[in-house]
Amino acid sequence: MSDIRPESLKRITNETLANGFIEEQIKELRAQIGDGKVLLALSGGVDSSVVAALLIKAIGKNLVCVHVNHGLLRKGEPEQVIRVFREEMDANLIYVDAVDRFLDKLAGVSDPETKRKIIGKEFIDVFAEEAAKLDGIRFLGQGTIYPDILESKGVKAHHNVGGLPPELDFELVEPVKFLYKDEVRVVGKALGLPDNMVYRQPFPGPGLGVRCVGAITRDRLESLREADAIVREEIEKLPERPWQYFCAIPDFQSTGIKDSKRYMGWAVVIRAVNTVDAVTATVPEIPFKTLTTIRDRIIADVPGVNRVLWDISEKPVSTIEWE
Ligand code: XMP
Repeated sequence: MSDIRPESLKRITNETLANGFIEEQIKELRAQIGDGKVLLALSGGVDSSVVAALLIKAIGKNLVCVHVNHGLLRKGEPEQVIRVFREEMDANLIYVDAVDRFLDKLAGVSDPETKRKIIGKEFIDVFAEEAAKLDGIRFLGQGTIYPDILESKGVKAHHNVGGLPPELDFELVEPVKFLYKDEVRVVGKALGLPDNMVYRQPFPGPGLGVRCVGAITRDRLESLREADAIVREEIEKLPERPWQYFCAIPDFQSTGIKDSKRYMGWAVVIRAVNTVDAVTATVPEIPFKTLTTIRDRIIADVPGVNRVLWDISEKPVSTIEWE
């Protein structure tokens, strides 16, 4: 099949068009797959979740989803994947707790690109090991979307960890490969996926790994995960959400004072940006009340943190992420 979006495909802007697309895809998926089995790396991101939901409708238990928890996901994400797909959609879902494995490999590594490489390689290794345990799989599901084809020659998110294990010899199943992101979201909504999955903000493949600046330690990573949940919860109360909002924890400490004693603690950095294409980004105003609420909650509830900062840097020159 060519990689040019077919002219017959209308832009999917509403539920009716999404339902038409879903019916058409179910027919095509059944024709392609027959009674074969499909393996899918399900991160819980919009694209892989929509592909999973489509395949569940088309082939049910012949879809085998693998969710790898690398320890760098946001608070509640692995649990949500299990709840939505295993419990609500009755999917065949293999949950792999690979947290120790990833964090052991990352211990002491501070160079950002080396961290990314380790996370990417380990992901492929874990996924390939799970695939090797399964018999009779002929197909690999992929959440490739049209911008992936246009921008990176069909390789899913070039700098992502969710790419196709190159040594695995499967026929690809890519039901949303001609859709733009906003269309994938409309289809996801029509498939009944929860809003916080469908309208999720972009999240890097290496996840919290690039926000736990420098060499990742388990305690600093846990503090980052807690602080991130607070930042998201408070910013999501605003009438208009920034394009991306999160926090980072640099690997330095500064002085705090508690019970009349000085001690060293980490600083949490709040980051929120608006952008169209992530190439340039501006910093939206955040109401001071929201910032102070975030500060108070983080200081009260997040272990080891004694300072909260707001990053007002624009891109360029600062990148959106801290690494
Ligand atoms: P930067 O930090 O380069 O980020 O301004 C631009 C956008 O890309 C995301 N990002 C990543 N996404 N893997 C990804 O899948 C990565 O390694 C990665 N690094 C940055 C970032 O969150 C922002 O949306």
